[in-house]
Amino acid sequence: MQKKIIQVSDIHFGEKTFSQDLKNNLLKQVTDENPDLIIVSGDLTTHGYVHEYNDASTFLDELESITEIHVIPGNHDARNVGLVHFEKQVGERKFIHHDKSGGFAIIGLDSSEPDINDGQIGVDQLEWLKNELNKIPDDICKIVTFHHHLLPIPQTGRERNILLDSGDLLRVFTDYGVDFVLNGHKHVPNVWMLEKMVTLNSGTATTRKLRGHTYPSYNELLIDECGIFVNLINTETGYKKELANYSVEVDGNEYSISSYNHNTLHLP
Ligand SMILES: [Fe+2]
Repeated sequence: MQKKIIQVSDIHFGEKTFSQDLKNNLLKQVTDENPDLIIVSGDLTTHGYVHEYNDASTFLDELESITEIHVIPGNHDARNVGLVHFEKQVGERKFIHHDKSGGFAIIGLDSSEPDINDGQIGVDQLEWLKNELNKIPDDICKIVTFHHHLLPIPQTGRERNILLDSGDLLRVFTDYGVDFVLNGHKHVPNVWMLEKMVTLNSGTATTRKLRGHTYPSYNELLIDECGIFVNLINTETGYKKELANYSVEVDGNEYSISSYNHNTLHLP
């Protein structure tokens, strides 16, 4: 059975380039898409202030009226002791979602650190992650999401804020057979394939804090037993473009990506 996942990030209530029109477009487009699951991978707010969280909370309620959602914080959400509002108004800062009929599981992690833009997963959360990955059957797609980027993103200027413990995390992902990683943060969509693992970054869905020729966007993943399609959706126009597609196989009870195709990015 095919399952549709929407990944949005970098919403940024309180940011001067935040656009109500883009937010309204997003809500309408996602309603029309009628996904099975929505992942919000960080930066709902800009300064972590309570009034930004109030707006974010209303937005999340609207998404939740469409389908099940899971949310993790980003660096901006952790500013000014913002995580107390996150926990009160949004909920837990990490999550596990098992979809048996869809053949996938998603683990969400908190990569934020108070008042700094750098991020890390940290030793305790890494141990928790290993424990949870051990519980996921090997024959389904293992997905992990967190806000900061795991790998450098082209066309984003000088590299900064890459996850501080990205090396340790890469080791865990490789050892535990993680297939897909979903990140945000840089406001530039991108996809990399490293060994047999995909790292997919989403753009900013609702702001015009954009780099180069990129546009406000978010990701759509279509997962079934034969493969995974990734589409990039332009929040401004609704235009959908295939970013990547993957064939998958279950060999000796081990789910893996067997071949892939990545398409050209950043075209208007
Ligand atoms: Fe961020």
